Formats: sequence, structure tokens, C-alpha cells
Amino acid sequence: ATDLTGRHFLKELDFTAEEFRGLIALAAELKAAKKAGTEVQRLRGRNIALIFEKTSTRTRCAFEVAAADQGASTTYLDPSGSQIGHKESVKDTARVLGRMFDGIEYRGDSQANVEELAAFAGVPVFNGLTDDWHPTQMLADVLTMTEHVDKPIDGIAFAYLGDARFNMGNSYLVTGALLGMDVRIVAPEAYWPAEDVVAAARKLAETSGATITLTEDVSEGVAGADFVVTDVWVSMGEPKEVWDERIAALAPYSVTMEVLRATGNPDVKFLHCLPAFHDLGTAVGRDIHARHGLTELEVSDEVFESAHSVVFDEAENRMHTIKAVLVATLADPAGK
Ligand code: CP
Ligand code: NVA
Repeated sequence: ATDLTGRHFLKELDFTAEEFRGLIALAAELKAAKKAGTEVQRLRGRNIALIFEKTSTRTRCAFEVAAADQGASTTYLDPSGSQIGHKESVKDTARVLGRMFDGIEYRGDSQANVEELAAFAGVPVFNGLTDDWHPTQMLADVLTMTEHVDKPIDGIAFAYLGDARFNMGNSYLVTGALLGMDVRIVAPEAYWPAEDVVAAARKLAETSGATITLTEDVSEGVAGADFVVTDVWVSMGEPKEVWDERIAALAPYSVTMEVLRATGNPDVKFLHCLPAFHDLGTAVGRDIHARHGLTELEVSDEVFESAHSVVFDEAENRMHTIKAVLVATLADPAGK
């Protein structure tokens, strides 16, 4: 079984393909056990701190439910509820929390912060999203892919459409490269991942056999894909002013039924980490509508609500996969 005792979970590049696949397999086992009512608690007595400097629905709830299922307790520190970064340095916070907790989750803008926490905490630190990477989301997405297509992971092709310079685009490119997948980044060139991220992915592909494509052409990018994936066009922490530029640049990359048809795959599935902007059901959506006249952005409501969409399986899988990370890093090795 997957034993990553004492390890951090900071970014995909820190793991071998075997370790990453092992976490996905462990998540599938834990999911099956929970559904069968046979889950064994391996984290009794463990205490986990959850630091959120940005808001969250899925990631926070996934950590809390996963920990509770496994017998561990959690303490939630919200964006205003701790001294971190304001009155106290990340380094001091790491050394304080490391004395009380067995593991620490961190969500914020800076990857350097989560790396610094890990360097000084003395206990495993988990990245719950930074501007650069969203590694726990990748475990959930690949697990969801394996559930919806009858192919080995390295036989799966997926296309990411949208702003690929941020956490989701970076993580998809590197995860696909690590696991030997056929990964396509479909966006205007100015929205492709940074050169060092592309170089790291190409290097991984040399040994994994991954196929890496970066293209501006939607039809070419999605042809034959098993999955089409996207993310919001404006991420947490970005100013409202960037909406104009994003809408102008990314409108041709909105995931519509026409894009799904262009895959040529009638069984193509759609993934989105969520939250998504696909209708006027939110205050942010109504604000965008008032200012730009649009009701849909990165994905059409038709696609989001269609049988192609597996976004709620994906959301559920955040919990099973985060549980796998906690069990692999924090459980007694003998019980793994
Ligand atoms: N996908 C994701 O990370 O969702 P939250 O922001 O709700 O945690
Ligand atoms: N790119 C998005 C992902 C949300 C889960 C953001 O950072 O806001």
C-alpha cells in the first residue's frame, strides 16, 4: 500500500508517478470502503490544522469530512482568524502549529508560504491551493477520469481550455506529463503556462511517454479527447479589472456543445474544479451580467447540466482523495 509517512504534499513535481498513482488507488479503496460501510479508522487521535487565507467550499469540507471519517479532529483557521502573515511570520506560525498538530493544510496565494510552512513545521504540510499549484484537485480529477473511461491512466487524453497560467493550468500540464497522459493546453499563447512549467512537463514526458500539446486551435486541441476541462477565467485574488481582457481573449475557448462535438467523441466528459460561472445563480454572475451582458463564461449552462458533465463526481472525489493523502502521510505505518 501507499506509505508516504511524514511526507508533505506541496506540488505534483515532488512525487514519482508511482507515488501519485498509489494515492489515487488508495483513494479508490477508501471510497469503496466508505460506500460499503467497512471503512477502518487509521487517524484516531490525530489533530490537523486547516489554514485558509482564501475562501473555500470543497477543499475545506473535504479535509474536515475526511478527517472525521478517519477519527481525526480539525481546527479551521479562516482568513481573518489567525495571526499568520499579519502579526506573525509564516516561519513562527509553522513552529507553533507544528508543536500542537500532526498535520497542517494551507491555502493562500503564495507557494513560497506553503513551502516555508513545510520547512519549519516538523509535521506534514498539505497544499490546499496556491496561485501556482492545486495538487489535491489533481488527485480528484484523475480518479474521476479513471471512473468514467475504461482506459489505463496513460491511455487517457484530455484538453484544458482557458487561462492556463495559473494553478489549474500548471497542475494539469505537470500531472498529465507525470502520469504519461495525452495532455493538451488549448488557449491563446499569452495564456499558456510559464516556460519553466512547460520545460518541467517536457522533461517528465521524456520518461513517462506523455504527449504534450500547446495550441491556440480549439478543433485541433480537443480532437479525440476523452475529457474537456476548464477553470474560471478570473481566479481568487485577482482584481475585477481583468475581466474585460479575459473575456476578450478567452471567449473562443468557452466550453460549449460545439466544442464537445469537435472532439469527435460522443462519450466525451466535462470536468471543472468548481466553482463555475455557467448561469446567473450567483452574485458574481449577476455582476458580470450587469457589466458585460454575459450569462455564461468558461462553460455553457447546457454543457454544465448535460450528461457529459461529471463535475459533481469530481467534487465528491475531493474528499476521498484528500482522505488518501491524510492516511498515506499521517497513519501508523503498521496500519497501512
Ligand atoms: N475546487 C476547489 O478547490 O474548490 P473550493 O475553492 O471550494 O475549495
Ligand atoms: N483558479 C481558481 C481555482 C479555484 C479552485 C482560483 O484560484 O480561484
